[in-house]
Amino acid sequence: MKHAMQVRIKNITMKSPLMTASGTSGHANEIEILEKSGRILSSLGAFVTKGVTLEPKEGNREFRIAETRTGILNSIGLQNEGVKYFIQQEIHRLLNFDLPVFVNISADSIEGFGDLAAYLSDHDSAQIITGLEINVSCPNIKKGGTAFGTDPELVERIVGTVKGRIDSRMLVITKLTPNVTDITIPARAAIQGGTDVLSMINTVRGMAIDIQTRKPLLGNIIGGLSGPAIKPVGLFMVYDCFRRIPECRSGEVPIIGIGGISRWQDVVEYILAGATAVGIGTSWFVNPDVFREIHQGVQAYLSRAKCMISELIGKAHDL
Ligand SMILES: Cc1cc2nc3c(=O)[nH]c(=O)nc-3n(C[C@H](O)[C@H](O)[C@H](O)COP(=O)(O)O)c2cc1C
Repeated sequence: MKHAMQVRIKNITMKSPLMTASGTSGHANEIEILEKSGRILSSLGAFVTKGVTLEPKEGNREFRIAETRTGILNSIGLQNEGVKYFIQQEIHRLLNFDLPVFVNISADSIEGFGDLAAYLSDHDSAQIITGLEINVSCPNIKKGGTAFGTDPELVERIVGTVKGRIDSRMLVITKLTPNVTDITIPARAAIQGGTDVLSMINTVRGMAIDIQTRKPLLGNIIGGLSGPAIKPVGLFMVYDCFRRIPECRSGEVPIIGIGGISRWQDVVEYILAGATAVGIGTSWFVNPDVFREIHQGVQAYLSRAKCMISELIGKAHDL
C-alpha cells in the first residue's frame, strides 16, 4: 500500500513514523557519516537533534556511559557547543536531510528556556527548524537540581514561555521524564501550557558501582537508563496518557513514543498504545542498520495486515 508508513504530527506530514531520539545522533555529524553508506535517511520521518543549550557546555566528568545487561546508563551532561555555534556552524547541514527537523532544547531556568527558544526562532532565517523539543528532564538549578519535569507548575510555565517567544509556525514538543509517579500530571501541565505534541520517555534514573574500586562508576554518580530495559516503562506511559488524557486520545496532542525500541515489533506496540510516531536511540549504537531493519519490518507487517500505520494508533484501547 502506497504511503502506508505515512503519519501526521499536527500539520507536518512524515513519510515514516521513525525519528531519531535526541542526543543519540548528534546535531548532524553522526547521521551524515551513516548516510554515506545509505543506511538511514530513507527510513526516517524526522530528525531530532542532540540537546542545545544557550552557552557551550563541557558535560559531566567521566565515566559518562556504563553498559548494563539490557541497556546503558549515561550521564553526558548535555555537552554541546552552545546555540550560537549550532546556528552558525551546524544548522545549515540539516537542510541536506530533506526531513522535518526538531531541535531539542535544555536550560537550567525558565528564563533560560525562553531566551534559547527566542534565539533559535530569531536566527532560523532559512526556516530549517520545524519545531522545538523541550527537554524538561534537565535539572532546575534554582531548585537544587531536581528535574523541572517532576514539577507540573514549572512544566506549564516553561512550555508557555517557550510558546510565547517563538514563531507561530514552529511546533512545540514537550519531552517528559519517566521519573514521576503519574506521567499524566506533567503531561496535562504541558498541554495546559500550550504544547502541540508530547514525547515520552526520557531516561530512567539509575546507577552502577564498580566492585573493584568500590565506588560509583559514573563520574556524576547518577545516570539515565536507556535501551531495551525501559521499553515496558515507556510503552505504559504512552498507553496511560492516551487512555486518560482526552487531547491525546482525540489526536489533538499527538504522542511520540520513545524508550527501548530495538525491533519493528516494539514500534507496532508503541503505535497500538497510542503513539503517532516513535524515537529510536540506544539501539542504533548497537546496530547501525536498525532504522532500515525496523522500517522494513513494520512495512511488511502493514502489508500483511493490509492497513496503514495511522489506522493502528491507539488500537490497543479498543477492548
Ligand atoms: C547518550 C545519550 C544522550 C542523550 N541526550 C539527550 C538530550 O540531549 N536530550 C534529551 O531530551 N534526551 C536525551 N537522551 C534521551 C534519549 O533521547 C531517549 O529519550 C532515551 O535514551 C530513551 O530512548 P532509547 O531507549 O531508544 O535510547 C539521551 C540518551 C542517550 C543514551
